[in-house]
Amino acid sequence: MKGILLAGGAGTRLYPLTLVTSKQLLPVYNKPMIYYPLSTLMLARIRDVLIISTPIDTPRIRELFGDGEALGMHLSYAVQDKPEGIAQAFTIGRNFVGDEPCAMILGDNIFYGNGLYHKLAHAVENAENGSATVFGYYVEDPQRFGVMELEKGIGGDEKNVKVLSVEEKPIAPRSNYAIVGLYFYPAGVSAMADQVQPSARGELEITSLNDLYLREGKLNAQLLGRGFTWIDAGTFESLRRATDFVYMIEQNQGMSISAPEEIAYRFGWITKEKLAQSAERYGKSPYGEHLRAVLDDRIVL
Ligand code: DAU
Repeated sequence: MKGILLAGGAGTRLYPLTLVTSKQLLPVYNKPMIYYPLSTLMLARIRDVLIISTPIDTPRIRELFGDGEALGMHLSYAVQDKPEGIAQAFTIGRNFVGDEPCAMILGDNIFYGNGLYHKLAHAVENAENGSATVFGYYVEDPQRFGVMELEKGIGGDEKNVKVLSVEEKPIAPRSNYAIVGLYFYPAGVSAMADQVQPSARGELEITSLNDLYLREGKLNAQLLGRGFTWIDAGTFESLRRATDFVYMIEQNQGMSISAPEEIAYRFGWITKEKLAQSAERYGKSPYGEHLRAVLDDRIVL
């Protein structure tokens, strides 16, 4: 199972913050935004990840994570010259994906909630068995997102919910379930992405790719209920909310969330020595202190 982290785009909604800086490197409380989606892919036990960003930002992101050795992962990088659509990630990443199933997460999407791990494991299982999975989250303003219409009026905790339709930013949404920026696809996704036609706004929409799977009867949905938090941190308001959220959780529990080095260590992908080296890199920051606490077994989960 491979993973793509899509961290490009112009970030115009966050100007002037993103005039000369990558949106995905902006702080969400005490970490760069990209730590959160990377952690989510890691929780799906995906170790081979392609990070796609702009020509200017890709080298900065590479500086941050390198080849992934410190995380026991294999990280590679590719450039998207222009933001021509989210589905383009699978044609840019064609050689990387090969004939394996592949997940994709958007670099500004933040997920948090107990049990996420199980939902991800199930999506991986679907992808390995030849079908795609998207996740739905109840929102008040579905017009701003991809929207899924479900067989049932309200969501339960079923593993696979039947999807009736998917639409990108509909004027008259058929439900309040936004399709969040985390997608799991079976082998062959790059060939499927080749079939996506540009939308009216000229983009290769991820919703069009999902629609192709839907038409083949190969699209599943899982719902993220009230116990989950999902934030698309791409606007000032939601970026602020993301920071407040992480601050609140970390203060409340007295520990860091979404620390990739910790996840790598707990999954046995890196040794104690590697974790100690990472803790050094973060110096006297609370993040470095958190890694030292993990190292010394002061945080027992
Ligand atoms: O956040 C979930 C939503 O993300 C979904 O519900 C929508 O179906 C999906 O289209 C997308 O909507 P957005 O309006 O948030 O898309 P946006 O153009 O802002 O792109 C999302 C992220 O992907 C953003 O951080 C930049 C990155 N991106 C986007 C495009 C179009 C790229 O890296 N390359 C691109 O070509």
